[in-house]
Amino acid sequence: MPISTTSDRASEKHLTPGSVEFAFRCIGCGALASAASEDFRCLQCGNLLEITSAAWAPSGTNADVLKKLWRDRRMSNDTLDLSGVWKYRELLPLPRTHEHIVTLREGNTPVYELLRCARATGVPRLYAKHQGMNPTGSFKDCGMTVAASFARQAGYRWVACASTGNTSASMAAYSARAGMRSLVLVPEGKISWSKLSQALDYGALTCQLRTDFDGCLRLLQQLVKSAPVYQLNSINPFRLEGQKTLAIELMEQFDWQPPDHIIVPGGNLGNSSAIGKALLEMRAIGLIPRLPKLSVIQAEGANALVRTLREADGKHLITVQAETRATAIRIGNPASWEKAVKAIRATGGTCDQVSEIELAQAKAEIGAEGIGCEPASAVTLAGLKKLVTQGFVQPQETVVLVLTGNLLKDPDFTMEFHKGELFPATVPATAPVQDSLAPLRHPPIVLDATLDAVTRALEQAEKN
Ligand code: F0G
Repeated sequence: MPISTTSDRASEKHLTPGSVEFAFRCIGCGALASAASEDFRCLQCGNLLEITSAAWAPSGTNADVLKKLWRDRRMSNDTLDLSGVWKYRELLPLPRTHEHIVTLREGNTPVYELLRCARATGVPRLYAKHQGMNPTGSFKDCGMTVAASFARQAGYRWVACASTGNTSASMAAYSARAGMRSLVLVPEGKISWSKLSQALDYGALTCQLRTDFDGCLRLLQQLVKSAPVYQLNSINPFRLEGQKTLAIELMEQFDWQPPDHIIVPGGNLGNSSAIGKALLEMRAIGLIPRLPKLSVIQAEGANALVRTLREADGKHLITVQAETRATAIRIGNPASWEKAVKAIRATGGTCDQVSEIELAQAKAEIGAEGIGCEPASAVTLAGLKKLVTQGFVQPQETVVLVLTGNLLKDPDFTMEFHKGELFPATVPATAPVQDSLAPLRHPPIVLDATLDAVTRALEQAEKN
């Protein structure tokens, strides 16, 4: 069933006067199409598609009108205005009618100042855009609301994804809301049970495959060609359109004065691609005067993009056998690598990698600010430290870290870290490493239920 771009039908209730007309464009050969095949690949050259619209071109849109419209919507109780994604619908592809849209009030996520991390990194203007505050606890919801709405409009009964956990949790929730069934393919034993339990609760058919994420995605791409299921991985360009709103909302939160740097974790590379696309579109239509530098940080054990840029100058993908305890980004064959290379280059950003210890330490530091995030998100702070050391980020610059997932997404990692059990299993537990992490550890202590025991624990803690 091809997914078409047909806009409003006269007989149906219009979303906004003059809903957005859009087309699919191949990122490789540039071919334009009004419909996409099931695998969302170009029929001519096989590369990935993106969505484009004349309405997002400079002449099509007035930046000041948009800024006012979006500000006014904060006073509205309309379902679409309450969504931090659909609020920006002038820069999104729109389903034909309201009824197709499936929303859980995604987006609207906070920007927090990171005061202690700012002191530790020597970058006083340091902020976190916390996408873990989305309805299912990750940034995936912003893309899912758009892609799931188009799946519903196309009349699909089944939607499917391969996932390291967050996409599946999000897809399962949105498809349940829309009355569609969902098929989840996850690598067995390699995703957090917290994310897995979300998919179960939202009623997904959950298959734990004896492979890694890359194997799951390969299988899904075969499946969509033979079975009537709609693919909801970030290969689906509607997902990336929704994820653009992270950047739009961020710029609005900064009163349209962009920060100097945005730092984001990199896995399958859909999110960095979406943020880059949004930044370029916003600058083109005059919403922002200049581009922040977009930098992508990966775990050392899942560093396909780092190696692709360093060893192949971004010309072809170098895949890796991925291994990291930040299971969300345990990906060795990232689908959107070309889009991400374009985004990094167009904004003047960079790409780097961090070790397991560096990301665990950064996660604990973000937690100690009372904010918290899942391990994959913490690569941003660990990466920032490196970029400051390299001089790529200057102390007087404003930096935003994109925290992609909630602290509660991976409780095992957090418990093992605080109990001092994380590293022996993954990297050799050397004494200096344990020493540097010790002040960040707050393991639970078991005591007799007496006033004396608790008082002594309090006194001991005060001494430490
Ligand atoms: N952070 C978190 C918490 C994630 O779940 C993911 C990806 C990423 C970062 C990387 O984002 O893939 O757009 O580069 N998770 C996917 C999933 C792959 O299946 O949940 P990306």
